[in-house]
Amino acid sequence: MAAAKERVLSGMRPSGRLHLGNYLGALANWVKLQDSYDCFYFSADWHLLTDRLETSQVPQHTIEMAADWLGAGLDPARSTLFIQSLIPEHAELHLLFSMVTPVSWLERVPTYRERIEQQEITSPSYGLLGYPLLQAADILMYKPRWVPVGIDQAPHVELTREVARRFNNAFGEVFPEPDVKLTEIPKVPGTDGRKMSKSYGNDIELADPPETIRAKVRPMMTDPARKRRTDPGNPDVCPVFDLHKIFTPEADLQFVANGCRTAGIGCLDCKDVLLKHMVPPLEKIRERRQQFVEKPDRIVEILHEGSRRARAVAGRTMEEVRAAVHLTP
Ligand code: TRP
Ligand code: SF4
Repeated sequence: MAAAKERVLSGMRPSGRLHLGNYLGALANWVKLQDSYDCFYFSADWHLLTDRLETSQVPQHTIEMAADWLGAGLDPARSTLFIQSLIPEHAELHLLFSMVTPVSWLERVPTYRERIEQQEITSPSYGLLGYPLLQAADILMYKPRWVPVGIDQAPHVELTREVARRFNNAFGEVFPEPDVKLTEIPKVPGTDGRKMSKSYGNDIELADPPETIRAKVRPMMTDPARKRRTDPGNPDVCPVFDLHKIFTPEADLQFVANGCRTAGIGCLDCKDVLLKHMVPPLEKIRERRQQFVEKPDRIVEILHEGSRRARAVAGRTMEEVRAAVHLTP
């Protein structure tokens, strides 16, 4: 028999349709990991409550995000796709972890400090402080070997390891320490040249059809030094070229870089070359996505089925945890 595959676990907050930055920075990697690992991926809907308490859109956003997952190639036959709030064991484990975790550890977490500063939060909630601890419960529940995340989430995985150690010291060896599997985050500029972000309104969604992608790319910001067609440009400072580096094969990449530097091609020509390489792979994702969007009940079924599978694992972990904590006679 082949050796059991190592387990991988990761999650995303369900804030709606995903864009190219989400895809290239996380989802594409999740898809690839399915070939070699036993993958658990989930919608972190409780974590979303730290962003907003208005939940009317969350069910729809969960479905749209899952449609993106499935469109991109996550395969429910190979990966366990689930919803955090359907696994109440996460909350129980979070509570027990809160007993072994000094508040000072949580106050030091960079994402916590940044959010308080950037969003000028004067009275942070207990839940926001506990965000990375809930994440530790999400992770350790499934005893994964690896947690694939971007560098911004690495401190949360580090905290997870510290919490596992503290718990094990207090109650006995229950949790192995997982390692972060850093996802290379390519530079994905939005249409205005800033980092692609839904909140900037500069994003290209996985749900965008080809016409929309073209309409977003054609007016895209370029090297500001190229005011006229005859001005030479510098691809190294051009956001369009950052997208070329992601989608365009070497030969055409050389062609546009030279054409830019020598004013041999115009920016619209350059963008058309980009679109030629960018539209077909995205169209493949969108078409598959669309098939699921037309059957939202099927998406819900996949998430519920995955959640049943996840819950069985969580149930076993919690039996061990309860035995280790040993409270009830
Ligand atoms: N905090 C993660 C993010 O914002 C989402 C998340 C929640 C997560 N729980 C997790 C990621 C567990 C990995 C593992 O991206
Ligand atoms: Fe950017 Fe291409 Fe225009 Fe050069 S030719 S500035 S790389 S869009």
